[in-house]
Amino acid sequence: MGEYHIIGGRRLRGEVVIGGSKNAALPILAAAVLGKRSVIHNCPKISDVECTMEILRILGCVVEYNGHTAVIDARGMTSHELPKEQMTKMRSSMLFTGGLLSRFGQFFAYNPGGCELGKRPINLHLDAFRSLGAEVIEGKEEFSAKADKLEGCKICLKFPSVGATQNIMIAATLTQGVTTIENAAKEPEVVDLQNFLVAAGAKIAGAGTSTIVIEGVRELHDVEYTIMSDRIVAGTYLTAAAITQGSVRIKNVVHEDMRPIVEKLADMGAIVTQEIGAINLSAPYRLKSLRHLETNPHPAFPTDMQPQIMTLLATAHDNCTIEEAVFEARDKHVPELVKMGAQIKANKNIFHIQGVAQLHGTTVCAKDLRGGAALILAGLAAQGKTIVKGGVYVERGYEAMHKDLQSLGADIKLTSSKND
Ligand code: EPZ
Repeated sequence: MGEYHIIGGRRLRGEVVIGGSKNAALPILAAAVLGKRSVIHNCPKISDVECTMEILRILGCVVEYNGHTAVIDARGMTSHELPKEQMTKMRSSMLFTGGLLSRFGQFFAYNPGGCELGKRPINLHLDAFRSLGAEVIEGKEEFSAKADKLEGCKICLKFPSVGATQNIMIAATLTQGVTTIENAAKEPEVVDLQNFLVAAGAKIAGAGTSTIVIEGVRELHDVEYTIMSDRIVAGTYLTAAAITQGSVRIKNVVHEDMRPIVEKLADMGAIVTQEIGAINLSAPYRLKSLRHLETNPHPAFPTDMQPQIMTLLATAHDNCTIEEAVFEARDKHVPELVKMGAQIKANKNIFHIQGVAQLHGTTVCAKDLRGGAALILAGLAAQGKTIVKGGVYVERGYEAMHKDLQSLGADIKLTSSKND
């Protein structure tokens, strides 16, 4: 397990280019099982993408992955059984089930693992498959589905789940008839999946709104597509600039996608300006608090930025309350931040933060992807040396985060831990 060694106190300066989005790449790669030959550019080189490539190969796809381009030929696919090892370590492996059900009329899968953010049920996915006409069997650690024939239908989601929305889009693409998703997730990554599928010949409209309509087609054709840039990586680096009182330019961003994050940083007093495809942020002083912040589905403030902005608020003036309204328990970073001198009190999924002028470096442990990124931000601002153990979590979603931060002047190294 790698660990990040950071000497805090340096103001970040300079510019960094943002790569492809993890949360757009994973559903798009899973959707490739529906098609023939898919050339997908701007794939981030992160462990979750590597894991997804492994699953594609195990299912019988021919996969080439050079640089940031993946070429997937799904014509020779042979299996509808998802591998236990990969499913139990990555939640987004769930996104293969819709495609397998659509292509083979069946799948066999294991309860998905991944970042522990409290209970993460899959009921919305399975209920949607049942609505489409599949018989779903749920076991203790595995589940499966079979359908002689899937039929398009109307599906109203009880919660605008990103994964369930994407899984239904994928399952309905080759399903006869019209499928309508009501209360669909509106995240930009859902729009990117629609754009990929339409480029491959699918008939889908409405992504980015609460209602998505899919008209089943007989087959998809070869496609070449470029994945959107990662708005959460971009938000993480903007927050790194803010917490170190630095001044950076983040390039290759979509302003509309960044709006919920940029608005909150500006509300805290950061100076934010925009150029075509880029955002500049400077924070030459300690920022002010937000008083209250709630995470919610897009276009509200994203839960994937909650640990990072909590860290910034922990070093801002005054106090703030954060309510994590998407996940049951996205809080494993809190005790680690407290070890560094942050004053945070948790009451279930409500966090009371009293800003402090200075965090101090120590050894802390990442327990999930975004919590790990937040601890790195804390180390950048802290006095002295911070060691962030559990680097493997950060590498799930950030391609060489330490190199990007080094290019902005941070004193950070990624080392393999002693017991590697
Ligand atoms: C996606 O996860 C993202 N992952 C997550 O990013 C992100 O935090 C989340 O959407 C919300 O934006 C990928 O895109 C690979 P959900 P997903 O289904 O699809 C409940 C990161 O750090 N729910 O929208 O799993 C669920 O328990 C990761 O990059 C059900 O109850 O999220 C949660 O409380 C973390 N039943 C809420 O909905 C279901 O069947 C939101 O989950 C499905 C979900």
